Amino acid sequence: MLDRPHPTPSAPTLDEKTLANALSTQHFIAGRFVPARSGKTFPVVNPATGEAVGAAADGDSADVDAAVQAAAAAQKDWAKLPARKRGALVGQCAAILTEHAEELARLIALETGKALRTESRVEANVVADIFSFYGGLGGELKGETVPFAPNVLSVTVREPLGVVGAIIPWNVPMLLMALKVAPALVAGNTVVVKSAEEAPLAVLRVCELLNRVLPPGCFNMLSGFGPECGAPLVAHPKVRKVTFTGSAEVGRIVSKTAADKLIPVTLELGGKSPMIVFADCDFEKTVMGAITSMRFTRQGQSCTAASRIYVERPLFDRFVAALADKVNAMVMGDPLDEKTDIGTIISPGQFEKVKAYIDEGIATKGAKAHVCSTMPKEAGLKKGLFIQPHIFTGLPNSSRLVQEEIFGPVTCVFPFDDAAGVLEAANDSEYGLAASLWTNNLKVGLDLAHRIEAGLVQINQNLVVQANLSYGGVKSSGLGKEASLEAMLEHFMHKKTIMVNYA
Ligand code: NAI
Ligand code: MG
Repeated sequence: MLDRPHPTPSAPTLDEKTLANALSTQHFIAGRFVPARSGKTFPVVNPATGEAVGAAADGDSADVDAAVQAAAAAQKDWAKLPARKRGALVGQCAAILTEHAEELARLIALETGKALRTESRVEANVVADIFSFYGGLGGELKGETVPFAPNVLSVTVREPLGVVGAIIPWNVPMLLMALKVAPALVAGNTVVVKSAEEAPLAVLRVCELLNRVLPPGCFNMLSGFGPECGAPLVAHPKVRKVTFTGSAEVGRIVSKTAADKLIPVTLELGGKSPMIVFADCDFEKTVMGAITSMRFTRQGQSCTAASRIYVERPLFDRFVAALADKVNAMVMGDPLDEKTDIGTIISPGQFEKVKAYIDEGIATKGAKAHVCSTMPKEAGLKKGLFIQPHIFTGLPNSSRLVQEEIFGPVTCVFPFDDAAGVLEAANDSEYGLAASLWTNNLKVGLDLAHRIEAGLVQINQNLVVQANLSYGGVKSSGLGKEASLEAMLEHFMHKKTIMVNYA
């Protein structure tokens, strides 16, 4: 097994296959690429072709311990740096990430099947933006003075928590890693990330790039499976905070371990986000808004995807027809082809899961499926995990397709008659991550925005996560916020009270 002590800085490369190979079989610990202690690896597969494009180190508790010890050793010196200096270093990463954005985009397209033009490039650029944003916030780690008593100076200071364990999924792995790593570092913590087994390579390249600026050990990256590598990371005694993005099911497991250790945990879990369309909306803008909201360019593999669309009855038929027309015009194909709008599902497991929902929807009495776009015909993509987008109407509210997160290119559309009824339907969900409302009547829109159960509500737009705006759900969608200054202060630091009696 190759042990590469010092990652060689290399210029951006657009040859994603060579890069995937070069990043294979390694964790990133204490500024070095190292293989798994066990020597085990598992394949990384391009879901558009079914071909292995590399391999990942198969991490277990021995690797977790090595990474956490490295992070703990680095943390004291890192926390001693002036906060603005830490911010400046994190900010410097943004320029390197921008310089390498295109190669990161190609690499993430290769390992996840996300279309380069519509998805992967967007992710690569947002990653740099998040580092740039948090890099500017080093001076904001302020405490308070408390008027306690005469001749007693009473202040609070913010301190880092220590080693942060971060577990990320595969749908936007670089972005979700950035949302955790950048604020954790600026706050003075060090980090061990456990990547998703389906997408371990692009995040490793990000590590190598960050390592050009940040001291070794400040952040470390392990690849491996959930129970074998993720669980021991959460359980490690030196991990003092866990931040997790993924399924509600695993979020509950992570949360239980964190509860036993009495450490704070941030959870970004699933969603079943409603989009509510009133008859007075700007029609064309709203149809295009639905295209963005459904995240079909990412095969619907987004926790904020509008997977339930409620349309005021007079507009219903026209809206569904326009939506189906627009999705029909989207091109499914090779994720790395500039013409492609829609790439593939991430893995055979997710493919089967999504197919099962679709089959169930088609078999439901009274339901109708608009099956959109066309399957790619190229011979090389025969084994690709492509699924045509499905727009369902006529499903009962009790259907699994309406209640559960599908994480696939499936949307259910319903007619509604009044604001009270649609609010009740929208809130009839286990989840509460995001929602969007489309109307020119801001009185109606704002009234609903206040009453809808979600962490993020947008009127007449539906943007993805943005730096500077708190992001995170209620109900089974999670605990805590990400992406903002407040998220860094509240979730990656604690407040200490210091009192000085000078009487
Ligand atoms: P998952 O929740 O199993 O995986 C997410 C991360 O958690 C991965 O890094 C995984 O290795 C890790 N993990 C799994 N078991 C663990 C454990 N016991 N302890 C610690 N870490 C563990 O998600 P999966 O299986 O990839 O997808 C299943 C469903 O989850 C999807 O269909 C979707 O509904 C939802 N999901 C939601 C995401 C979001 O952005 N909120 C992202 C990915 C999946
Ligand atoms: Mg799982």
